[in-house]
Amino acid sequence: MERILILDFGSQYTMLIARRIREMNVYCDIVPFNRIPAITPDVKGIILSGSPSSVAAENSPRPDLGGVPADMPILGICYGAQWLAWSKGGNVANSGTREYGRAILSVKDSTDPLLKDIPAESQVWMSHGDTINSLPAGYKVIASTASVDNAAFKVEGKPVWGIQFHAEVHHSEFGKQILRNYVLSICGCAGSWTPASFIESTVASLKEQIGTDKVVLGLSGGVDSSVAALLLHKAIGDQLHCIFVDSGLLRKDEFSSVLASYKGMGLNVKGVQASERFFADLAGLTEPELKRKAIGKDFIEVFNAEAKKIKDVRWLAQGTIYPDVIESSAVPGASATIKSHHNVGGLPKEMELKVVEPLRLLFKDEVRRVGKALGLDPDILGRHPFPGPGLGIRVLGEVTREKVAILQEADAIYIGALKRWKLYDDVWQAGTILLPVKSVGVMGDERTYEFTIALRAVTSVDGMTADWVHLPYDFLAEVSDSIIRDVKGVNRVVYDICSKPPATIEWE
Ligand code: XMP
Repeated sequence: MERILILDFGSQYTMLIARRIREMNVYCDIVPFNRIPAITPDVKGIILSGSPSSVAAENSPRPDLGGVPADMPILGICYGAQWLAWSKGGNVANSGTREYGRAILSVKDSTDPLLKDIPAESQVWMSHGDTINSLPAGYKVIASTASVDNAAFKVEGKPVWGIQFHAEVHHSEFGKQILRNYVLSICGCAGSWTPASFIESTVASLKEQIGTDKVVLGLSGGVDSSVAALLLHKAIGDQLHCIFVDSGLLRKDEFSSVLASYKGMGLNVKGVQASERFFADLAGLTEPELKRKAIGKDFIEVFNAEAKKIKDVRWLAQGTIYPDVIESSAVPGASATIKSHHNVGGLPKEMELKVVEPLRLLFKDEVRRVGKALGLDPDILGRHPFPGPGLGIRVLGEVTREKVAILQEADAIYIGALKRWKLYDDVWQAGTILLPVKSVGVMGDERTYEFTIALRAVTSVDGMTADWVHLPYDFLAEVSDSIIRDVKGVNRVVYDICSKPPATIEWE
């Protein structure tokens, strides 16, 4: 396998560089700048990413490239470029005005392989406070903008380049081409890292790793755990034991339909009815964090009790994906703030299970591509994210079976309508919330005093930020009418028009 290493200096764009490279079917790893691994022959190039720091600042991130072979192609982006210049005696200082936003890049050396097929002038995206005022001896300018002379440079006689603009962002018109020039032409990567090749190599290594052992995996109905299960199933068949817990907090009919779908895919899966226990433990709880804790604890206990029944099980499989894995804690800055929700954990010590995480190299959309290649049910594949605690955090306040039943009906109407109106795939996540207030209405000749349902629909990339969706009024009218007409106990429907931040996606 060939790969590109990306040294993380804490920029919010580091992940985006990785995404761009993966889109070329080239595998890449993000590693903290101060933990560079041994450079093995599979490493074809090294990218130095951006950073919120200034190179000259006392505690700025400074990589040790001593172990990097002299013929290794290196590309510095923004801070990375500034560091390449500064560390060899160039002058990098605050530019006085922050250079932020669009700029026009003029190519000075069209023969340079990094700039192959880049027009003489094109738009790029700038975002830096410092600028390279002077380059060290032996560094040659290959492109400039109106305010930045040293926008791109090459070190003469060495395969080392620097660019002060962000080629990885969409606003850099030919940014993708620059990255392609670097990864495919300069580093010589073949671009053969496809879902099919990933599946083939992962299945082979899972077989070797697991041998004849038994593995247990908790399915949630979501994409990650389902794809992890299919990969493992392909590798070890019925040695994989899946557990799917019915908390009573899933969407309407979801437990039975998803369980049937898993069985249809050939998975060795056990459905466990545990809703009684979840509702009992939720009784009287109104505080969101206490509710989450109660649900999380029940999940773990039910899962553990089932896992213990599997004789001689040795492994616990998890659907952990790449953003959860990236080890950026050593790097201050935006890339270090990425959070994830872990829903499974805390297995009893005496079980001493080893952990296997077949998706730990993949981004979310890559998980989907792999799932598609493995024949995952399209209905599971394209499903919106759904929180681990399920409808337990969408029934605000105390959760009861009756309230969940009301919410399930309203939710089914809303999600069904989104699909019928072909809006479902344009929305990143949608759901209904049952508010703990009653209001007065009139139905026929009768006064009603019933619950309110809030509808939520957002667009997002990763759930960290989100915007509410401008759903058509006619659609909202239809959903509101159906819910009030068909769901007993509801007489009012409202639409949530808040973005995240300052609101969150879920109400609890
Ligand atoms: P918030 O409400 O924090 O949600 O804006 C961001 C995303 O995370 C999901 N979410 C969860 N997912 N376990 C999960 O697996 C949880 O406890 C949890 N809480 C929120 C939420 O649905 C949204 O996609």
